[in-house]
Amino acid sequence: MKLPLTSLTVLSLYSSIANAYTYGLGKSWLIGQGSNSSIQKVTTTFNPGIPPPGQISSLKLYPGLSNGTGDLFLTSIESWPDQSWCRGTIAQWCIRTQVFSHQEAIFGQFAPLNANQSLSIVFERNPNSLNWTQSVTVNDQVVSEASSISRITSIDLTGPSMSFCSCPMTLFGMTTECDGGCAMTVSPQIYSNTTIELSAPDLNWNSTEVVGSQIYGGEGVYNIIGQQPTVVTGLSSQDGQVWTVEEIVIPALN
Ligand SMILES: *[C@@H]1O[C@H](CO)[C@@H](O)[C@H](O)[C@H]1NC(C)=O
Ligand SMILES: *[C@@H]1O[C@H](CO)[C@@H](O)[C@H](O)[C@H]1NC(C)=O
Ligand SMILES: *[C@@H]1O[C@H](CO)[C@@H](O)[C@H](O)[C@H]1NC(C)=O
Ligand SMILES: *[C@@H]1O[C@H](CO)[C@@H](O)[C@H](O)[C@H]1NC(C)=O
Ligand SMILES: *[C@@H]1O[C@H](CO)[C@@H](O)[C@H](O)[C@H]1NC(C)=O
Ligand SMILES: *[C@@H]1O[C@H](CO)[C@@H](O)[C@H](O)[C@H]1NC(C)=O
Repeated sequence: MKLPLTSLTVLSLYSSIANAYTYGLGKSWLIGQGSNSSIQKVTTTFNPGIPPPGQISSLKLYPGLSNGTGDLFLTSIESWPDQSWCRGTIAQWCIRTQVFSHQEAIFGQFAPLNANQSLSIVFERNPNSLNWTQSVTVNDQVVSEASSISRITSIDLTGPSMSFCSCPMTLFGMTTECDGGCAMTVSPQIYSNTTIELSAPDLNWNSTEVVGSQIYGGEGVYNIIGQQPTVVTGLSSQDGQVWTVEEIVIPALN
């Protein structure tokens, strides 16, 4: 057992590595690298598959958005030896929306997710450009939400609001993160019907795609294990502004 699973410990662990998280974004798939095109909205449906049995450390799967130099919004789907922190069981995943900025983190609600259950995620820059919101829907119910101006819900419900940069986001990607020699994924991770809307058309935006084949270690260990490459189907756009990807499949990595 590496870490006590109190919310506070989890928060401070993440805080110290906020930048590392940004740099870890997109080890499985990334788009936007080297472009200044600003992302306005992303929607995706994710089925994380079955949590690995016998988890000994932590495994985190996440799609996220980054501004390239620090800010990061993500929804993580997590497997720990004890899932009670999200009121889950070891046969379930835990999920939470998260925002990192200026070395600080906030979380949306923690929620359990059944094995092989899809969730829908929406990241959206509000029309006033002042904040981002991120929400996760399971079976037509919103289970976790975080915005770039929010309260630390998991630590102290009466705590201060923290405001984060609502800068443009330029990168969208997915990561498979293994910390401390975790038990790895035992089924494919499947992202369906991903839609990415830019603030202005960029007909060459697809040339910024990086198809990953690496696992990220959040303790500063990069690219610790080679993996089978991610398989991407149907990346296209009619107008260069709204891009869709039919399916992104990250194979089982056990
Ligand atoms: C993106 O913006 C930076 C800073 O303004 C600039 O140096 C760089 O050339 C731009 N990149 C592209 C691909 O336009
Ligand atoms: C990204 O976010 C960080 C932290 O808020 C900020 O300092 C930085 O200027 C932002 N970068 C861009 C390119 O907007
Ligand atoms: C996950 O659910 C799908 C149907 O939604 C089913 O086809 C598939 O076999 C299930 N996978 C596992 C590993 O149970
Ligand atoms: C967005 O930002 C404004 C102030 O900049 C704040 O009043 C509002 O509550 C924020 N909205 C959300 C959903 O966080
Ligand atoms: C993806 O979109 C297609 C076409 O609209 C639809 O048939 C399919 O059910 C969707 N898949 C998911 C997982 O939402
Ligand atoms: C980029 O997308 C456009 C529009 O779907 C397509 O015509 C072009 O061939 C794509 N380029 C690459 C490198 O895939």
